[in-house]
Amino acid sequence: MEAITDPDGITATALLNCLRREVGEWAGGTLRLPRSGTLLRAREGRWLSDPEVFTGSWQPLAWHELAVLISKELGDPPVGFLDEIAGSRSAIAAVLDARTAPPADLYQRSEQALVAGHRYHPAPKGRGGLPPSEWLPYSPEVHASFPLAQLEGAFVDDGEVPLPEGVLPAHPWQLSLLGMESSSSGLGEVWPTSSVRTVYDPAADLFYKFSLDVQITNDVRRLWAHDLRWIPPLARLLRPVFADISSVFPGAAFLIDRGYRTSPASFEGLAVVVRDGVRQHVLPGVTPLLAAGISEGFDGNPLDGLDSDGALRWFRQYVSVVVPPVLHAFFAHGVVMECHLQNVLVGVDGAGLPVQAIFRDPEGMRLLPRHSALLSSMDGLDGSRGVSEAKGWERLQYCLIVNHLIEIAGAVLARHPGVDVWGEARDVFVAYARDHGSPPLLSALLSAPFVPAKANLLLRWTRAEGAASRYVDCPNPLYRN
Ligand SMILES: Nc1ncnc2c1ncn2[C@@H]1O[C@H](COP(=O)(O)OP(=O)(O)OP(=O)(O)O)[C@@H](O)[C@H]1O
Ligand SMILES: [Mg+2]
Repeated sequence: MEAITDPDGITATALLNCLRREVGEWAGGTLRLPRSGTLLRAREGRWLSDPEVFTGSWQPLAWHELAVLISKELGDPPVGFLDEIAGSRSAIAAVLDARTAPPADLYQRSEQALVAGHRYHPAPKGRGGLPPSEWLPYSPEVHASFPLAQLEGAFVDDGEVPLPEGVLPAHPWQLSLLGMESSSSGLGEVWPTSSVRTVYDPAADLFYKFSLDVQITNDVRRLWAHDLRWIPPLARLLRPVFADISSVFPGAAFLIDRGYRTSPASFEGLAVVVRDGVRQHVLPGVTPLLAAGISEGFDGNPLDGLDSDGALRWFRQYVSVVVPPVLHAFFAHGVVMECHLQNVLVGVDGAGLPVQAIFRDPEGMRLLPRHSALLSSMDGLDGSRGVSEAKGWERLQYCLIVNHLIEIAGAVLARHPGVDVWGEARDVFVAYARDHGSPPLLSALLSAPFVPAKANLLLRWTRAEGAASRYVDCPNPLYRN
């Protein structure tokens, strides 16, 4: 696969991808912006690239010109919009300059492979406008590892917190954002996963997720009190749910957020969530790999070196391990997993074939109304954790199909154009429906021309008015007429 080396190109591609998905009318290689009537064209490939604008003749368009054009098209841009894009672009450049040889561990490589970040976000690598010297030492993309800091004192535990008494692990970057002194700890070296603020401690086989008061893609990455409160009840809910799911689909697992510890003086700012490690969940002889890493590519990616039959078999196997557990969590257990590319690990066997799916990150998880007793004991039924079946299904289709399978299929198709990946995927959905009572939502999905896609660009505009999420139609790759 082509190496990712061009921050300008990555930035333009992200903007073009957003425009095609959310704003423009795409036909025959050109994209018409409906409000201004501006005509763009771009090179088609796995994603769009090399934008040009029509001004009597086709003229190349730099990423910053494209950004200005977008803000004119949508009008009245949110404060800081252009700066965010420029900041993301310079962060990518800084990462590319600082990148070192990849680590030996394949799992770590897959977590630390996301140089371009979210491909459908206008400012995927924004780091709050902070200078690289402040964040490069903690960045997965440069294969960082570092010792955690620690605070000593009396702390609050909620849930199961397998940490030494009187010690609060702290992320050195967050400490400096809070203006606090950092001292290194007796805790071992950790390395950052793709989410930046969650780190892996290989000695303890635990993940620690921290607050990080920096805007990264759609959120300031703070552990909010209302999400922290949900950690113990979600752990209690997920244990039996995943025991059942893995009895039906062997190897499926969830990295449970077991509990959290924090300081009463800075409840959210200093919170640390302790999450199951991955080794305890991986079957013998299996290597976990981050789905997003497989999509982006890294040295040792099991997708490399397959012939087209092999790639198609690999994809079918991938969909067979990832999709049924997600559908079962929804239909049998009323749990809506946020199973996007960054929240799923796939275990591959010695031959590189997917044999196991491991899910993580309950923060974005939603619960269907059958959990009303738990929901009303926590947030009340109107809290954001509970969703109607329709809203939950909308979110699940986005996470699973648009922000996951389309990208894995894209990685296969980039290597083997024209193979029938979606025929394979469709068979897996059909088989699940046949074996599990034909849920009407699944039949509707298989005959729907569109699936919902989250509008990360438009969200920057609607957020100003307080809307929480927004979806647009994306052609449904599972659809056959
Ligand atoms: N395709 C993608 N979809 C979602 N997030 C992505 C994608 N590619 C890269 N990312 C990055 O991954 C992170 C996803 O955010 P998410 O809320 O799932 O993680 P988190 O809550 O910070 O940490 P964790 O997943 O460890 O719980 C963000 O930093 C986001 O920019
Ligand atoms: Mg996540």
